[in-house]
Amino acid sequence: MNDPRTAGSTSNATPQATEPGAPRTPHVTQVWREDLAATRVELLRGLTAAAAYASPKFLYDALGSRLFEAITELPEYYPTRTEAAIVDAHGAAFAQAIGKVGTLIDLGAGNCSKALRLFPLLAPQRYVAVDISVDFLRDALAHVQRQHPQLDVNGVGLDFSSRLQIPPRSVQGRPVFFYAGSSIGNFTPEEAVPFLTSVREQAGGGGLLIGVDLVKPTEILEPAYDDALGVTAAFNLNLLLHLNRLIGTDFRPREWRHVGLFDTLRSRIEMHLEARHALTVAWPGGERRFAAGERIHTENSCKYTVPRFEALLQASGFARGHHWLDEQGWFAVFWAPA
Ligand SMILES: C[S@@+](CC[C@H](N)C(=O)[O-])C[C@H]1O[C@@H](n2cnc3c(N)ncnc32)[C@H](O)[C@@H]1O
Repeated sequence: MNDPRTAGSTSNATPQATEPGAPRTPHVTQVWREDLAATRVELLRGLTAAAAYASPKFLYDALGSRLFEAITELPEYYPTRTEAAIVDAHGAAFAQAIGKVGTLIDLGAGNCSKALRLFPLLAPQRYVAVDISVDFLRDALAHVQRQHPQLDVNGVGLDFSSRLQIPPRSVQGRPVFFYAGSSIGNFTPEEAVPFLTSVREQAGGGGLLIGVDLVKPTEILEPAYDDALGVTAAFNLNLLLHLNRLIGTDFRPREWRHVGLFDTLRSRIEMHLEARHALTVAWPGGERRFAAGERIHTENSCKYTVPRFEALLQASGFARGHHWLDEQGWFAVFWAPA
């Protein structure tokens, strides 16, 4: 199978002209192509490190995106429904605080379902969904366009882990960035500041609407990342199959176990893959021995308090805005003017 992130056509960032009355087709711009040599260097650096790791972006191939969609429906996974409840409860206040939206830029859009909730509230002129998992995004955008035939719908295939650069021609009118699902938690606070700063620099005149998961008891946090059905385990283990395809490793998922634990000191969920027994992973030109119980760190999901996240936004140069919480105080949505 092709790596979904390399599939699809490359085109410039100019949206297609549409005949009046003709059905629109979402325009997907792939500004990023997998550089397999660089990916190999990045992955082998992580796999051969004393404490092995792989970037969470490798969780999202086409299957990984579908597994994440399934996770959002699990009873244990409160973030998706809690964030949606905040949008439903405070939509009018969002609209008032945010004002006119030229382009709504959805970072890590996934199935775009969060943005669909915002359209009636914010009435953007253009929607630009950004994601590394391009084929999944393409299907999601076709659905968005069917639901909103008159909306100017665009996609950007982009890996924003090292640099966020939205093609300027994709943006028309006042830009409002949307970063849902507490995906900002995948960055450590130190990594989040330069990322948020680059969002702020590209959001001139507009701002950022961002969902953030808050600190809460471990008994609620850990099952959200280690569910009874094992869907999160499958999501994490699928990273091994993705690596096999990308760089020819010979991971056997049955030899690994999913681990999702809350580190209270660092205020973050950490996901790991743990070797069930001593084993060797080989790839063209190398190998690594893992002892029983040795782990590969695959994801952080940092949890914030409201003041800590406000401080992060300020450190990234945003002006003071608003935030809204759900009734239990589990999740927050912040509006940060650029
Ligand atoms: C936790 S999911 C959130 C999806 C959706 N926004 C939601 O709230 O349900 C993270 C999304 O970000 C995308 N993503 C992860 N790493 C990325 C990267 N480095 N560049 C672009 N997109 C990325 C994934 O493909 C996935 O769709």
